Amino acid sequence: MDADFANEFDLESLPASFYDDPYPTYRALRTHAPVKRMRNGSWFLTRYADCSAVYRNTATFRSDKRREFRPKFGDTPLFEHHTNSLVFNDAPSHTRVRKLIVGALSPRAISSMAPALQGLVDRLLDGMADQAEVDLIADFAAAIPVEVIGNLLDVPHAERGQLRDWSLAILGALEPVLSPESAVRGNQAVTDFLAYLRGLVGDRRAHPGDPEHDVLTRLIQGEPDGERLSETELLHNCIFLLNAGHETTTNLIGNGLVALHDHPDQRERLIEDPMLITTAVEEILRYESSNQLGNRSVAEPTEVGGVAMPAGALITICIGAANRDPEVFPDPETFDIARTANRHLAFGGGFHMCAGLSLARLEGQVAIGSLLNRFPDYALTSPPVRGGRVRFRGFLKVPCAPRG
Ligand code: HEM
Repeated sequence: MDADFANEFDLESLPASFYDDPYPTYRALRTHAPVKRMRNGSWFLTRYADCSAVYRNTATFRSDKRREFRPKFGDTPLFEHHTNSLVFNDAPSHTRVRKLIVGALSPRAISSMAPALQGLVDRLLDGMADQAEVDLIADFAAAIPVEVIGNLLDVPHAERGQLRDWSLAILGALEPVLSPESAVRGNQAVTDFLAYLRGLVGDRRAHPGDPEHDVLTRLIQGEPDGERLSETELLHNCIFLLNAGHETTTNLIGNGLVALHDHPDQRERLIEDPMLITTAVEEILRYESSNQLGNRSVAEPTEVGGVAMPAGALITICIGAANRDPEVFPDPETFDIARTANRHLAFGGGFHMCAGLSLARLEGQVAIGSLLNRFPDYALTSPPVRGGRVRFRGFLKVPCAPRG
């Protein structure tokens, strides 16, 4: 049975049941075909050791996607956007751009955001207090990152509503299969987003903010030693930053609240010992990773997990499978909010490791901890609706009665 699962698996034609629960398939692949050849010739990795080794070796396993994205996107705004994003570039251009972005997301910058984040979460919880039913995604999980990233780039409040739709459309185009509708939506979103940002950047150039607090001003002005972004790099990496922190963080909060609901013993444990929120968020990231897949291409002939690969081979790293590998995580299918030595790959690894991980952790801890504190008996009122994506795992809708 397990071997059949592994034999039949193909990322481009998945059964409906996979979207609900991909983990039996991942387990079967890890056991029977850990370096699995897809019908299109690419490779799908499910063992932690292989995924981690690929992330760490940036000389052999490249992030540049020009060759892969050209046939997928053609000469379109989506192609221009994704090939200019930090995450899909290699050194030396990646190194330059990352230095500026990491500098703007320093631990000091992140910790200074904590009071405003707590205020935002408290206001959202206040708004839920007298409702019989709320949607934990629209009314809570999705409402947080849009404001946090909006604050980060100082986007005026009234203009933030459109950011989420743009972000979903642009990232949706990264699914393994690109439908014509997704392509149209994604291209329109890049075009609209660029037009919007040109105005915002022009305005900020004319009226710079305080670079200590305003990330956009910092990215415009560059480093004191002269490192600067070109206009194209600046605009596309602003879009990338806005996107990188949206759906992933919404899903971290949504996945966490559903997992805690489905594991009442773990919810009780967290209520009794709120200090466990730090390890709880790491466990949510491991157990239901919001970003399930990563990609690399092979620069020179190599081998992965004992399988030879030629230059040009394409690889999918399955974060969701690696994070449940029993070789690394004892009892990997168990959701244990006090798990320690939790070296999950939810934020990737190596030089491209998530530059926003401190911010994502802070948002997850404040959002989940505060909701549990205010509504310890929250109860789902009907089954949550999944997002139906393979790469970004989360819920579209989580109907819930907020009970205190
Ligand atoms: C739970 C939330 C998040 C998850 C699971 C997540 C996951 C990831 C992963 C797996 C990568 C590596 C991609 C690769 O190497 O192929 C990445 C990169 C990145 N993430 Fe996140 N992310 C999250 C939130 C954020 C936030 C809030 C921000 C910023 C506001 C952010 C900014 C970035 C940036 C800039 C990169 C590119 C780093 C590089 O290529 O050097 N992320 N993220």
